[in-house]
Amino acid sequence: MIMKWTFRRLYRPSSCGIERVDCERGMSDYVFGIHRGLKVVNFFKRNGIKLKKSFVLDIGCNKGGIDIAFSPFCQRIVAGDIDVERLKVAKARFKARHIRNIDLIRFDGSKLPFKRGVFRLVIINGVLEWIPWKHQEKPRDIQIRSLKEVYYVLKLKGLLYLAIENRLFPGYLIIDPHIGLPLTALVPRFIADLITRSMLGLPYKNYIYSYWELMYLLMKTGFKRVEVFVGIPSYQFPLEIIPVHCSNKDFSKAITRAFRSKLIISLINLIVITRTLRIFWPNFIVLAQKSR
Ligand SMILES: C[S@@+](CC[C@H](N)C(=O)[O-])C[C@H]1O[C@@H](n2cnc3c(N)ncnc32)[C@H](O)[C@@H]1O
Repeated sequence: MIMKWTFRRLYRPSSCGIERVDCERGMSDYVFGIHRGLKVVNFFKRNGIKLKKSFVLDIGCNKGGIDIAFSPFCQRIVAGDIDVERLKVAKARFKARHIRNIDLIRFDGSKLPFKRGVFRLVIINGVLEWIPWKHQEKPRDIQIRSLKEVYYVLKLKGLLYLAIENRLFPGYLIIDPHIGLPLTALVPRFIADLITRSMLGLPYKNYIYSYWELMYLLMKTGFKRVEVFVGIPSYQFPLEIIPVHCSNKDFSKAITRAFRSKLIISLINLIVITRTLRIFWPNFIVLAQKSR
């Protein structure tokens, strides 16, 4: 109930005035996803990152919303997903929108079929936590392997854009953002596994991380420069993407636009003032560079 109440008070775009083609009618705003992609494109522009001549890889592209947004702003995109049905929808969307610079490939994010140093940018938006599902190995090991694969296919100055939920966000203690059970996000993994096995008959695989765990994972993989941002209110529907260490002034403008409840706004202001954003914010957006 608390989550529902909070969710109703969040900013949510309804296609943001972007026209839908036939095969997109009836899609949820989340799956439509073009507005999300446009926000990410703007984020790169604002940070002075030019992509015009770049090769971009989108891992777990779903039905291609982000790629549609990116297509005019980079040279070529390779969009891949493990799910063939989703790729078929993406294909129909690209065709209907006359987009010709996106190649669709079915692949597993933990085993990328590309040579070393091909891509300027790799996007993993809300996917790292799903990759372990098709594997028997420990979820964390598979996730590290996937990040190593990304590291391998990136150019020397290449960037990883990674969006994922924050394990420490108190709301996820009440409801795990992926499996909808209480406690599983925060408790030790073996206890989370006991809970999901007893309540759902499934292992616990949707590993998400705290700020420090995520930093450690990326450094362990080899990334040299890691900057952390947050999506306001979420990385799925970002109204703003701003640095986790940003000042109170930058933040307050964005949160007044993103949240409708005065109570939530005051709580967030408290988090900003006490500089505990990286502990309590629900999501992280990481920009990690392969080498300095
Ligand atoms: C929550 S959706 C994110 C979609 C997209 N990145 C976006 O932001 O609109 C997760 C996607 O990851 C895909 N996926 C899950 N496991 C994968 C894997 N091992 N390799 C590639 N894609 C995977 C799913 O099929 C799904 O389309």
